Amino acid sequence: RKPCLTLALETSCDETSAAVVADGRIVLSNIISSQIPVHQKYGGVVPEIASRKHIENVLPVIDQALKAAGVALTDISAIGVTYGPGLVGALLVGVSVAKALSFAAGIPLVGVNHLEGHIFANFLAHPNLEPPFMALVVSGGHTSLVHVKGYNEFVLLGQTRDDAAGEAFDKVARVMKLPYPGGPYIDALAAKGNPEAIAFPRALSGKNSFEFSFSGLKSAVLNYLNSAAQKQEEINTADVAASFQAAVIDVLVSKSLQAAAVSGVGQIVLAGGVAANSGLKAKLGYECQQAGISFYYPDPILCTDNAAMIACRAYYQHQIGDYADLHLNAKPSLKL
Ligand code: KG4
Ligand code: ZN
Repeated sequence: RKPCLTLALETSCDETSAAVVADGRIVLSNIISSQIPVHQKYGGVVPEIASRKHIENVLPVIDQALKAAGVALTDISAIGVTYGPGLVGALLVGVSVAKALSFAAGIPLVGVNHLEGHIFANFLAHPNLEPPFMALVVSGGHTSLVHVKGYNEFVLLGQTRDDAAGEAFDKVARVMKLPYPGGPYIDALAAKGNPEAIAFPRALSGKNSFEFSFSGLKSAVLNYLNSAAQKQEEINTADVAASFQAAVIDVLVSKSLQAAAVSGVGQIVLAGGVAANSGLKAKLGYECQQAGISFYYPDPILCTDNAAMIACRAYYQHQIGDYADLHLNAKPSLKL
């Protein structure tokens, strides 16, 4: 039997990526052209520049993905593409190219939700993982608890009311004069600090509330840094990073466990860029073990934006005939 190959494109933010996945689970190639160095000097993603870079990179990245997988376009069974959420101009590049390829080669087109893609990265990392499970999606743009009941059945339990977890990491890092994106730098600095040094707030930590809020925490860190600067006090940046990170992690971990308990599922998966955070993985892993819950997370390369996770999601949509047509458009605020 020939494997079912899905080719996917991901251009929702600042990574141009193309990947080929076999039978939904085996990554044959996952080419990621990151624009991080381009945006770093602005301290964040500049949408106009992101779109232009995607246009420059997208075709070479697709060529590389096919070559690295050792396959031709004619071997592909379905073409997946992220159509939201994300930056509209960035999304449009992937969507336009995927539509053109699908039309020219007569291959079915699958529109993929970026957040579902992040969750599905776990199927690539763990060949035996199957729904149902609770997914904590923590990225630069989103913080959500999703009950994944089946491969095509998702129930959103709650999300952030304001900043996403990754956004809080990036904003705190920015005022601490760390490079963009700040998450990995805070993570490294936190490992050298005392997480109990400063008592930062844990918002909305009520029982069985699955909404998050991180803007108050971000302000608390900024106020702490400003008042120390005014008083010309020496600050321990490692302690600030560790205490901030601990506040984020406490809320994420306790809500994930409550959500799993309420939904009666015995598995929790981490997804999205912040899933690469070492403190989060350690704490959630420990608490899951205590509670007798299986815990999964992807390798860092599958946590941040990549097309392999989109190809995985596209495979499962292809299985049920969930195709898009040439009217597919970018949806910047697409929901789960
Ligand atoms: O999923 P992603 O690549 O893009 C979005 O869809 O948003 O996530 C990027 C986010 C950034 O906010 C980045 O700072 C954060 O993930 N991130 C981390 C770590 N690695 C990436 N946050 C905390 N600790 C990390 N190790
Ligand atoms: Zn993402």
